[in-house]
Amino acid sequence: MIRAFQGIVPRVGARVFVADSALVLGDVEIGEDSSIWFNCVVRGDVNWIRIGARANVQDMCCIHVTNGKWPTVIGDEVSLAHNVMLHGCTLERGVLVGMSTTIMDGAVVGEGCLVAAGSLLREGFQAPPHTLVAGWPAEVKKDLTPAQRELVQGIWPRYIRYKEAYFADGWPVAEAPRIPDPRPGFREGHPYP
Ligand SMILES: CC(C)(COP(=O)(O)OP(=O)(O)OC[C@H]1O[C@@H](n2cnc3c(N)ncnc32)[C@H](O)[C@@H]1OP(=O)(O)O)[C@@H](O)C(=O)NCCC(=O)NCCS
Repeated sequence: MIRAFQGIVPRVGARVFVADSALVLGDVEIGEDSSIWFNCVVRGDVNWIRIGARANVQDMCCIHVTNGKWPTVIGDEVSLAHNVMLHGCTLERGVLVGMSTTIMDGAVVGEGCLVAAGSLLREGFQAPPHTLVAGWPAEVKKDLTPAQRELVQGIWPRYIRYKEAYFADGWPVAEAPRIPDPRPGFREGHPYP
């Protein structure tokens, strides 16, 4: 389901999949060929959320923001495995976040990182590019091995194939709702609630 909030309508690129049980609301942008799977919440009601192209947000993920302070920014070719919680953080291009991880306000995960399953990234945590980050709370462990890089780089292309298989099976391509008098988002001056 894709819904406007206070007149701000999510912006959705070409051939995006949004499962019917997912909620995408408000000041959210999703780039082309990305997919948002079953029971996800992407709630852009008190700040903005950007999801790049060819990204996948797997089942049960929750993406939110902090009012007026921390948007959430997800780069191209990012994979969020099942049950990831993102709040007011930035993930650069090509990051893989393992299942059931939580990433908090102001954290920045560099390009191509692997965040191990079940990790907690504290507020303001910084991960250099192409490193393994793991633990509760998380620390930077080491540079990725070739096998870990392969894992990170293998998932997003697979999810492009998966969402295309769903389209072939009759699931609809995502379309933003049309509403009268749509409004620009928070970055363009919409007041924070
Ligand atoms: C990270 C992962 C790939 C393991 O990789 P690995 O090559 O076996 O890791 P290593 O054995 O080199 O571990 C390196 C360090 O990270 C730690 N570590 C690895 N996985 C960890 C995890 N999930 N939680 C906490 N620490 C972890 C190890 O204990 C080790 O710590 P140390 O150096 O202090 O001893 C795996 O744990 C993981 O999280 N996979 C992602 C699964 C997933 O969500 N897939 C998506 C499906 S769509």
